Amino acid sequence: MVEENMRRKLIVGNWKMHGSRDQVSQLLGDIESGSERLLKDVEICVCPTYLHLGLAFDLLASKSGVGKGQIKLGAQNVHVEAAGAFTGEVSAHMLSEYGVSYVIVGHSERRQIFAESNQFVAEKFMAAQASRLTPILCVGESLDQRQDDETERVVLNQLDAVITVAGIAAMKEAVIAYEPVWAIGTGKTASPAQAQQVHRTLREHLDRLDPAIAKGMRIIYGGSVKAANAKELFSQPDIDGGLVGGASLEAEEFISICKSADQESCKL
Ligand code: PGA
Repeated sequence: MVEENMRRKLIVGNWKMHGSRDQVSQLLGDIESGSERLLKDVEICVCPTYLHLGLAFDLLASKSGVGKGQIKLGAQNVHVEAAGAFTGEVSAHMLSEYGVSYVIVGHSERRQIFAESNQFVAEKFMAAQASRLTPILCVGESLDQRQDDETERVVLNQLDAVITVAGIAAMKEAVIAYEPVWAIGTGKTASPAQAQQVHRTLREHLDRLDPAIAKGMRIIYGGSVKAANAKELFSQPDIDGGLVGGASLEAEEFISICKSADQESCKL
């Protein structure tokens, strides 16, 4: 049996291709001040575009210092190589120079729109870790796959593709995000029970390979998370936080989601 729940909740804002310099400054400032009241049970990360990472880094550094304060920085992507003739790409080392702690890999938008394969995702996962960045590995089924009862097979395949290449020990420094593709940006959220079932499946799979890793692994949920559904999702035993797209672009909504994850503030 996998024991619950010594894992610190993690809320990640995926800003995707949104924001101007002004909007990023405003949003980050508002999230920073709003999160000051949060207690320590929740870790917060925001993922601006590559272009805005430097700005976010400077803004955070001018206050508490990147990585020291409550808000961490994440990147939405990374390239597999360390340097070279890869027009338009950014390496993990470059990200680490901007105080980045987390990198999203295998997001369904990258898998679908940019045709990233399981193998490529696994290489990105390892490239991130080689520069001491924590990969957030996204897995999730399409609507057709869910209707065909293929959810378990799909998500475990996506997870195993990384474990085969990187090894189970590498999962120790990683986060998994379960994001049903049909719930991303659609306003349709998996019910807490549906999400919990997949999170449990993922954890049980890890448990068969390495019980300690399974126990410590943070498995966060993504797909139309908002303030109104966050608390119920995060109260599930195997849901350790959220990967939030649209709702992370509004400071008040995002802070409210973070508060739902903060067990102590929930108790108040
Ligand atoms: P959403 O996006 O919250 O807008 O559904 C989630 C994601 O793509 O990570």
